Amino acid sequence: MFGKLLSKKHPDIDRILLPEDKIRQKVRELAEKIRKDYQDKQPVLISVLKGSFVFLSDLVRCLEIPCSVDFIGLSSYGGATDSTGVVRMIMDLKDTINARDVIVVEDIVDTGLTMDYLKRNLLTRNPKSLRICSLLDKKEARKIEVEIDYCGFSVPAEYLVGYGLDFNELYRNLPYVGVLKKAVCRKK
Ligand code: IMP
Ligand code: MG
Repeated sequence: MFGKLLSKKHPDIDRILLPEDKIRQKVRELAEKIRKDYQDKQPVLISVLKGSFVFLSDLVRCLEIPCSVDFIGLSSYGGATDSTGVVRMIMDLKDTINARDVIVVEDIVDTGLTMDYLKRNLLTRNPKSLRICSLLDKKEARKIEVEIDYCGFSVPAEYLVGYGLDFNELYRNLPYVGVLKKAVCRKK
């Protein structure tokens, strides 16, 4: 079957933290919460590229309300496993969010610097409301307080890949979230 090899543990992965079925279940739960909160609204889901594209695509297909999607490209990593702390906007939204109900969709909140930057940036554009949905929350690594309105899983402070998360642009296509072997992080 197509994708069978990807489902097996990749040799660079130390252990699978979140298998496919656990993620699928959580995405359904998050979509249900969002559906209840936005019943009579038409939110725009903003996917933070590149890491959240897989999560967004699964989330919107579970979300049974009218919604639109847009994309914003941010970068703070530049290939290393530690955040540089400097957030750059690589690609801006296509549409205005003025008076819109906005839900930011992230793969992981780590130090919080990216989300803090993005929240402040988006608030200057006068959305009607702004909420954050992140699949993963690496609380221990936080350098700045960020409130996550819809959170999937709390994860340990280890370097994670898969389900959209990368290391040097690789492993995004793994269907699960796994801990990358330390030897691989060091190799670079
Ligand atoms: P923060 O600014 O430190 O919160 O990091 C935000 C971004 O860094 C996330 O949106 C991810 O794209 C990336 N990131 C943080 N931790 C990890 C990880 O464990 N694996 C892969 N990417 C990560
Ligand atoms: Mg991200």
